[in-house]
Amino acid sequence: MHVVHTINEVRAAVAAARKAGKTIGFVPTMGALHAGHGSLVQKARSECGYVVVSIFVNPTQFGPTEDFSKYPRTLGDDTTLCAAMGADCIFAPAVEEMYPEQNLSWVDVEKLSEGLCGASRPGHFRGVTTVCTKLFHIVLPDIAYFGQKDAQQAAVLCRMVSDLNFPMQIKVCPIVREADGLAMSSRNRYLSQDDRRRAVCLYQALCLCKQQVEKGVVSVSDLVRQISEVLTAAGGAPDYISIVDAKSLQPLHVIDRDALIAIACRVGPARLIDNMLIFLNPLRFQL
Ligand code: PAF
Repeated sequence: MHVVHTINEVRAAVAAARKAGKTIGFVPTMGALHAGHGSLVQKARSECGYVVVSIFVNPTQFGPTEDFSKYPRTLGDDTTLCAAMGADCIFAPAVEEMYPEQNLSWVDVEKLSEGLCGASRPGHFRGVTTVCTKLFHIVLPDIAYFGQKDAQQAAVLCRMVSDLNFPMQIKVCPIVREADGLAMSSRNRYLSQDDRRRAVCLYQALCLCKQQVEKGVVSVSDLVRQISEVLTAAGGAPDYISIVDAKSLQPLHVIDRDALIAIACRVGPARLIDNMLIFLNPLRFQL
């Protein structure tokens, strides 16, 4: 497995793989990799001839008061995990390589970027879509892999690729959870032991909500109240609790179609997100 740091190097590696007839799988990350990322690399490995993982903590998707400078940077451990999962190449550029000058060109996906995390993190998705556009143009993948844990990010990027005719496919892979249900996240590293025990409240609240829907509760305000009670009882501070149309991400008043329950909640120093899809047609549960 190669670790490269420049755009020219990764382009040359991908061009050689393509010349050898290989399809290119791509897993964009910000590093601090965990088993969730591992599952994306494995999926790419199983489907593509050449697998590139990018590791880049992208400054343009962090707000001025967010955790850009303290975001964990663990290239050594990340390299070990990528090699074990079968990646062929890590692209780990410096900020100056990706943004040699002040960035004046941006990609913005309207509407889908505006609610949920877009409302509490202004400019976040503009940073994500812009850096992913740059990465897609650099790596030229056939398939890029993202996790359902960042459900809004996945929806925004799928729409960008479709609206702007990127010649590639996006695959969204299931959330990987710890044994107690906590969704794997690089930000779980910020949790103290006590916070870590409490952080499972996001998953518990989502499960309770799904059970309530299965029992016939469809009022979003009732469901949101119950989720809020679970989070606050565990000492969490909800940022948002939203139940939205699974495709358009527009808010629902009643659950009368496939829905996404999405939560952002502070637990200690960490702002954690998690989500669950609710399919109204029970046949979909069997897929
Ligand atoms: O999900 C992430 O890790 C980041 O938002 C991404 C997609 C790598 C863009 O920086």
